Amino acid sequence: MKLENKLAFITGGGRGIGRAIAIAFAREGAAVAVTARTRVQVEAVAKEVADQFGVDSLALECDVRNTGWVNDAFALALTHFGRGPDILVNNAGIAESELFIKSDELMWERHLNTNLGGTFRCTHAALPEMVERGWGRIINIASIAGKTGAPYVSAYAASKHGVLGLTRSLALEVAAQGITVNAICPGYVDTEMTSRGVENIVAKTGKSAEDALTTLKKMSPQNRLVTAEEVAALALLLASEEGRGINGQAINVDGGTVLF
Ligand SMILES: NC(=O)c1ccc[n+]([C@@H]2O[C@H](COP(=O)([O-])OP(=O)(O)OC[C@H]3O[C@@H](n4cnc5c(N)ncnc54)[C@H](OP(=O)(O)O)[C@@H]3O)[C@@H](O)[C@H]2O)c1
Repeated sequence: MKLENKLAFITGGGRGIGRAIAIAFAREGAAVAVTARTRVQVEAVAKEVADQFGVDSLALECDVRNTGWVNDAFALALTHFGRGPDILVNNAGIAESELFIKSDELMWERHLNTNLGGTFRCTHAALPEMVERGWGRIINIASIAGKTGAPYVSAYAASKHGVLGLTRSLALEVAAQGITVNAICPGYVDTEMTSRGVENIVAKTGKSAEDALTTLKKMSPQNRLVTAEEVAALALLLASEEGRGINGQAINVDGGTVLF
């Protein structure tokens, strides 16, 4: 098993991509701390992986926008598992769309504080023990919106561009200490986040839900949404020993939408 004796701390693990990563890691023997704001969802995922794969798991309610919550979650995980995480997956994120001219500072702050600030806070909490141990994996779930712009998503794209800047810089700082830092950049994934995007298009344009979904699918040359499991498969490679040579990268899982 690829992740035996490893502990993974996964933010936004209650559903979608985070849940798929928790399952993929637990299947390979990792113990997992699953965190998000919705307690019932993280409890369900923690139970699911424990029941299915017999691994130790912990559900933690945590809002990554708040340093106190983040530090408390890491402290509770330390108490439960007796150690800090070997693998950190910064996956918690939000995505709202609006014309820049209609968006306000609160929307801007929500995106920066969750998508980029959350990644900063959790990384800050996890890194010291990884350095001490001389082994670590930090996997940031960014987006192809971290590489290229698109209308209506300036706050989201700015936050994800920031995640790539953090990924690349930190990767170089810790490269000689047995730690890798990488980002995954998915295109549209078949999760609730994309369903909410479809609802938003319907509400704003009057298109049918089917037409809105077709529009999103057509953004990929493969004419489909990516699955959460496909993103999790790459996360597993980055988390594993075989992935140790991959560092400071931002790897697209998007069917070829963005070619850099
Ligand atoms: N879906 C896509 O098309 C797509 C494409 C590219 C990148 N991504 C990225 O992939 C990641 C996961 O997205 P997803 O598609 O799985 O979306 P999702 O189904 O909406 O899940 C998002 C997860 O993040 C958690 N979360 C949100 N705000 C949080 C906060 N302040 N503190 C802690 N947890 C928080 C949510 O839980 P609570 O609400 O319970 O806190 C949930 O568990 C995000 O970073 C997203 O930007 C998604």
